[in-house]
Amino acid sequence: MNTQEAKIKIEELTEKLHYYNYKYYQEHISEIADYEFDMMLEELQALESKFPQFQRVDSPTQRVGGTITKEFPTISHQYPMLSLGNTYNEEELIEFDKRIQKRLETENYSYICEMKFDGAALGVRYKNGLLELAVTRGDGKKGDEITANVKTIKTIPLKLHDGSSLPEAFEVRGEVMITKDNFERLNQQIKSENKKLKAEGKKEKTLLANPRNTASGALKMQDSSEVAKRTLDCFLYDIYGENLPFQTHEEALLSMKNSGFHVSQTWEKCNNLTEVLEFIHHWEQKRHELPVETDGIVIKINEFKQRQILGATAKSPRWAIAYKYKTEAAQTILKSITYQVGRTGAVTPVAELEPVKLAGTTVKRASLHNANEIERLEIRLGDTVLVEKGGEIIPKITGVDTSKRSEDSVPLSYISHCPECQTGLIRAEDEANHYCPNETACPPQVKGKMIHFISRKAMDIDGIGKKTIEQFYENQLAQSIGELYELTKEQILELDGFKERSAENILKGLEKSKNQPFRKVLFALGIRYVGATVAEKLADYFKSVDKIASSSLEELVDVPEIGTRIAESVFAYFNDSQNQELIQKLKVIGLQFKEIESDLHTSDAVGILEGKTFVVTGKLENYSRGEMEQFIKENGGKVLSGVSKKLNFLIAGEKAGSKLKKAEKLEIPVLSESEFLEMLA
Ligand code: IVH
Repeated sequence: MNTQEAKIKIEELTEKLHYYNYKYYQEHISEIADYEFDMMLEELQALESKFPQFQRVDSPTQRVGGTITKEFPTISHQYPMLSLGNTYNEEELIEFDKRIQKRLETENYSYICEMKFDGAALGVRYKNGLLELAVTRGDGKKGDEITANVKTIKTIPLKLHDGSSLPEAFEVRGEVMITKDNFERLNQQIKSENKKLKAEGKKEKTLLANPRNTASGALKMQDSSEVAKRTLDCFLYDIYGENLPFQTHEEALLSMKNSGFHVSQTWEKCNNLTEVLEFIHHWEQKRHELPVETDGIVIKINEFKQRQILGATAKSPRWAIAYKYKTEAAQTILKSITYQVGRTGAVTPVAELEPVKLAGTTVKRASLHNANEIERLEIRLGDTVLVEKGGEIIPKITGVDTSKRSEDSVPLSYISHCPECQTGLIRAEDEANHYCPNETACPPQVKGKMIHFISRKAMDIDGIGKKTIEQFYENQLAQSIGELYELTKEQILELDGFKERSAENILKGLEKSKNQPFRKVLFALGIRYVGATVAEKLADYFKSVDKIASSSLEELVDVPEIGTRIAESVFAYFNDSQNQELIQKLKVIGLQFKEIESDLHTSDAVGILEGKTFVVTGKLENYSRGEMEQFIKENGGKVLSGVSKKLNFLIAGEKAGSKLKKAEKLEIPVLSESEFLEMLA
């Protein structure tokens, strides 16, 4: 195929794919089979990688992602992204309507009612019919530019549908979400991957917490091909721009829909408050049947002119309000209370309930937090209790129906001894939780500390997961952090499910962890109140464990941003003889107990790329993009997130797209992987 032919073919495929996409996502019509669609997409991808100069900015191949963004640039909103006033009851809605009536005097007005979608707000700017830029809400004035990630959302058009009556430049706003089905599917995928990981003795992945966090988390992922895998969705509900060709929100919604935007068809025009209330009642239960999560209704004045009269406060418009549905509650019986002991020894009471259906799931347990909460609720065994599920995953007990209490019930007495190791519990005066002080021998505390130690943010030990730690512990192979490093291959092979390779992986992982920097080791020790950030601050300030251990309480309190509570905990930890022994042991094993000035400058060629800037794009032959970027940094170079005049070199592999084009336009030197490696040598 010659250049001219390629150009024509790329155009043709791009147009056709846009057309089928539109039909599929807007009209729910599949004019061709999925397979045929995928083949066309693949053909386009292949052509674009051969002739990157012809890749269109609206190419449907961007849906699969592939762009890596290290830092999302901050963008100022052209129109502030306000939030909404909330109400939880109908009286407040009546008040809202009265305020509107008063302000608009004799004018007639109508409302548009929409679902309040529970996801992450997004603004998408279009210019000359093409998606130009996407930005998060941020603080309402400025947000993060996340264009590459948003381009993977199939229901957001890269190009407007022909015949759109929208102006040259405008911004649409909406909510990014993941459907409940897709959320379940992703978690099922993680579960089955975890089975494999476990069999290979590798670390298992954590399940996704809820649809809202999954969607907002995905928007800020660095690798857009990972975002594509999350299969996000977006409903649009607003449009901003100069000289928009409509006077009402109703017209705006219809026009957005006609231009190819995903507008939820649940909205309705309501001519008065009675109709608004009807809409609210209609959706109260029915909303659970929608494919995405919603938490209320948004009520907006329809006429734009009237919106102007009503205006806005600094935070929210006076022409709109959100009615939030009450969190659902159910009644059930408290069967018993169990007590869980965490890694730090904190005891958490858990209510074991008669199973009950609540907002689509069956609830069997609820957290009771601590003894104060039990006292506050005045809860007793056998009581009829009220459970609620808010945004959180763990349901809460919010009340007790004492009228249903049986006559022979007695007040609860909190446990006095650890349910795991029978040590007497302690409770500091200003603490809500009871603690088991038996840090070094209480099984869940010891296991919990070991699990924390190996975790990704701490020592990041490949090959060992939570289940493996439990196996080591139960089989008495390793019952403390130090003993992990004494494991032998033969011992690991004795355990269920371990083969030569997985056992070797564990030993390699342990060996490799000896290079983890001091701040990670400090965090991994699991000192109460010393999270990753505090550990970093302490490591930065003191530079070595010896300095921390020999500090007085006053010296610790003097460290910027370290409060008394943390200082006391650190002081107590290092003054405990068992902890001192552990650290001595870990020192001998070879863990890092001193901060090394630069953990990055490890290669011989330190600084050879000093002062030079790079961007890596496309698929490289021998290295992943991440590895290449690490390589650049290790040699003193800087990795930029996008191509601009500030860039010195672009390293481009196969299928390099818009970045390559931009670099060529700006006449920035483009290197292949091998050219870059030669340059290094
Ligand atoms: S309109 C100035 N409509 O709720 C009014 N917002 O609390 C702008 N939201 O930031 C928002 N569904 O993230 C509007 N149908 C809907 C919505 C909606 C969800 C979110 C949005 C906004 C927040 C305001």
